[in-house]
Order: sequence, then C-alpha cells, then structure tokens
Amino acid sequence: MIWTRKDLLALSDLSAEEIVFVLDTAAEFKGVGQRRLKKVPSLRGKTLINFFVEASTRTRTSFELAAVRLSADVVNITATSSSLSKGESLKDTAKNLEALAADLIVLRHSASGAPRFIAERLQAGVINAGDGSHEHPTQGLLDVFTMRERLGRIEGLKVGIVGDIRFSRVARSNIWALTKLGAEVILIGPPTLVPREFERTGARISHRLDEVLPELDVVNLLRIQHERQKAGYFPGTGEYASLFGLNAARAARLKPGALVMHPGPIHRGIELDGSVADGPHSVILDQVTNGLAVRMAVLFLCGSVALKEEA
Ligand code: CP
Repeated sequence: MIWTRKDLLALSDLSAEEIVFVLDTAAEFKGVGQRRLKKVPSLRGKTLINFFVEASTRTRTSFELAAVRLSADVVNITATSSSLSKGESLKDTAKNLEALAADLIVLRHSASGAPRFIAERLQAGVINAGDGSHEHPTQGLLDVFTMRERLGRIEGLKVGIVGDIRFSRVARSNIWALTKLGAEVILIGPPTLVPREFERTGARISHRLDEVLPELDVVNLLRIQHERQKAGYFPGTGEYASLFGLNAARAARLKPGALVMHPGPIHRGIELDGSVADGPHSVILDQVTNGLAVRMAVLFLCGSVALKEEA
C-alpha cells in the first residue's frame, strides 16, 4: 500500500491495512536497531521538534532516539521551557515552530484534540504522543506490535485491558487497533472506571477480573490516571489492588504463554506485584524496546508525506 498521511493523530482514523503496514515497517526498523551501525539516512537534514506539555519518560525518549536513528536533527521543548508558560496560544507556538523550519512535530498535551488542532493548521507532520484521555496512537501500535511478535497473530486473541478505562488514552488506542485487527477485547475494572458506554466500541465488559483471567491471551494493566480524575472513582488503592491487581496468586491462574503488559509508569503493588512485573509472563520492557521501532516507522512514513507536501 502507499502511505498518504502526514500526521498520525488517532488509530480510529486508520484502516486495518494501514495499521498492519505500520507494524510491518516497524519490524524492518527493529532489524536496523539490531545492527552494529544503528542509523539510516531517511530523515537526514530534517528537523523534528519533540513538544511535551505533559511529563513523559518512555514516549519522549523513544521519539528522540527514533529521530536520531533516522538521522534527523531533534529539539526537545516542554511546557515550562516554551512561551506557553507566558500565555502564548498553542496555535501561535506551533506556527512559530514551523517558521523555524520544523518538518515534524511530536506533541503530547493534556487537552484531547490538541494534536489535530495544530495538524489542521500546519504543513509540518504532526504526531500525537498522547492527548488528554483521547488517544496515544504509538502506544497502541507498540502494544499490538508486541502481541503480534510474541503470539504470531492478533486476530482471534482475547485481550483483557484492566483498570482505568474511562480516563485512558492507551485503552482507547488499544481498543481501536485490536478490534480493527480482529481481536476480542474485554475491558475489566470497577463500574465507575469501565462504564457501559464502552460496549459501543465492540468490546466486552467485565467487573470481575478473577472470572475472566484464565481465558485471556494478553492482560494489559493500566495505571490509575489520578491526574485526570476529578473525583474518587474507587474507595482506595488497597481495595483496587485487592480486586483488580495482578498479584502472584492471580498470575498463577494465567494461561501458559499469556502476556502481561503495562504501558508504564507501573505502580508495583497496585496494578501488579513486583514479582509479576519481573516474572515470566511480563513483556513490559519488550513494549518499551518495540516503541523505538514503531516510532521510527511512524516518523519515517509521516515524514515522507510531510516532506513531499513541503517540496
Ligand atoms: N507509556 C507512556 O506513555 O509512558 P510515558 O508517559 O513515560 O511516555
């Protein structure tokens, strides 16, 4: 297929064919990362701006490394180091970055829709690195990449996503990618964090982890998004952990070969115990490694279109 998007804003925008194309491209870039010389010249002479208005370890670092491996020049800015802190609008900031010849802008923002807002106003390619509780498309892609790499397929898998579905952009991107690729998705958590309206996505809902755990091929545990919750959605972390935390006793009931995933940052003793995070089912660090290859693929594909439009 021919990739035609200068921006990656949401997996809801992508067809199954486009998702598979990104995964296949990422598999090729993963091979580059295993060579002695890990760089390719695909974005030589181009500038990527990593603009993170919210905190990040994994996403920011892997976008920077991905751009470096593609030979781009990279500039990192944050909310406090930008003039957003002096009251400049997001649109003006983005226009100024483009005036400084940014070819690609990677944006993480607390407002859902912020990356689409600037993408519609810029010729530069815009990649959503997580916007509010809307989507985190590269996380969704690296999660399905890791499942496909480990289990050989996506179609027909039973994937449980556990926890704070209501506020999770990671959950939304996973639901879009997995349902488009033919997996069965089961959303698991307390009714306050897994409202019935999510059934419209095609996912099944369960409020009892213990009932569904033995049938899962993948269990993806989410962080409680305290920063996005305006009220208490459960009595306390102790009660949450006792009902929905993946402890050693629960992990013993997983299928052999089932994958334990978490987008990070993890809270040991809440979403999962340390012995499970570091145990044989865990692919949490593989997810991080695969994030680099997936982000190389996304920058390469969107960069190719954005740079053509500029020329
Ligand atoms: N998974 C994820 O988005 O992690 P960071 O917040 O560290 O980027």
